[in-house]
Amino acid sequence: MTAHRPKVAVVGRGRVGRGLHGALVAAGVDAELVGGRRPGRAALGDVEVVILAVPDGAIGEVAAALAPRTPEGAVFLHCAGSLGAEAFPPTLGRPAGAMHPLVSFAHPKKPPSLAGTTFALAGPAAARRAGRALAEAVGARPLERGVDGVHGPAYHAAAALAANGAAALATVAVEVLETLGARPKAARRAVGALLRTVAENVERVGVPDALTGPVMRGDAGTVRRHREALAARSEAALGAYDAIAPAILRTARAVGLPEASARAVRSALQRKRK
Ligand SMILES: NC(=O)c1ccc[n+]([C@@H]2O[C@H](COP(=O)([O-])OP(=O)(O)OC[C@H]3O[C@@H](n4cnc5c(N)ncnc54)[C@H](OP(=O)(O)O)[C@@H]3O)[C@@H](O)[C@H]2O)c1
Repeated sequence: MTAHRPKVAVVGRGRVGRGLHGALVAAGVDAELVGGRRPGRAALGDVEVVILAVPDGAIGEVAAALAPRTPEGAVFLHCAGSLGAEAFPPTLGRPAGAMHPLVSFAHPKKPPSLAGTTFALAGPAAARRAGRALAEAVGARPLERGVDGVHGPAYHAAAALAANGAAALATVAVEVLETLGARPKAARRAVGALLRTVAENVERVGVPDALTGPVMRGDAGTVRRHREALAARSEAALGAYDAIAPAILRTARAVGLPEASARAVRSALQRKRK
């Protein structure tokens, strides 16, 4: 039996709002996109779920303003990862929780595919039930850990490390390819596709085994040449290389890099730049 797909209002026409709304509509869900700052006379009279895709700091205020316009049983879900149900005012009078898409929405008109992603859910049973139905409708997997869920600064920091760290390192890598003469679009495509293979490895091979490269092989000579080449081209790239190296080395040790090889890599990393 297919789960009931509730009538939804997505509030906030930014990156997440547009991305979620588009995916829900494509999945056959009756969903309306509503302005966050000026919701106007939005038809919320028969809505079953209100998704707040507004800035974290505006969740309480927007929910309080919209709740009286919704039916009594309407469920409110916000999309913040660092906040749980406590983001809503205790006087809201509606079941309220969090549905955080563990997804990077970078552009309102270029939404990522949600198929196979994870949506973290928190809040009372009614809120999690609604979040589960919507996640499953767009092909995402619900992640539930009771009322509080996994939400909070630690969960959100993990997401930010992986997503924002990857985007920042990709920026540095693209810049280096451009200094070597690659056209920006070709460089972006190359690094994007490379990251896709890393993402596939993380899912299919697992961690820490997804790690590849000279540090994992204990190839201190290549690490030394990397640093010399970057020092000649980009201080920023060398800074990023050195900053991420301890995490790579720690992962390499977890994959089985012997301590003697790790010591050689550490010494290559500590060599003063010429
Ligand atoms: N971007 C991501 O990758 C990502 C991923 C997962 C979760 N999230 C969470 O999703 C939520 C929305 O993030 P976003 O990236 O979509 O932000 P965003 O692109 O800045 O969009 C937020 C939208 O909220 C509305 N808005 C702005 N200021 C407002 C205010 N003071 N009061 C009411 N509405 C306001 C605006 O829509 P209108 O023009 O319609 O007013 C704006 O387009 C946040 O809780 C964020 O933590 C983001």
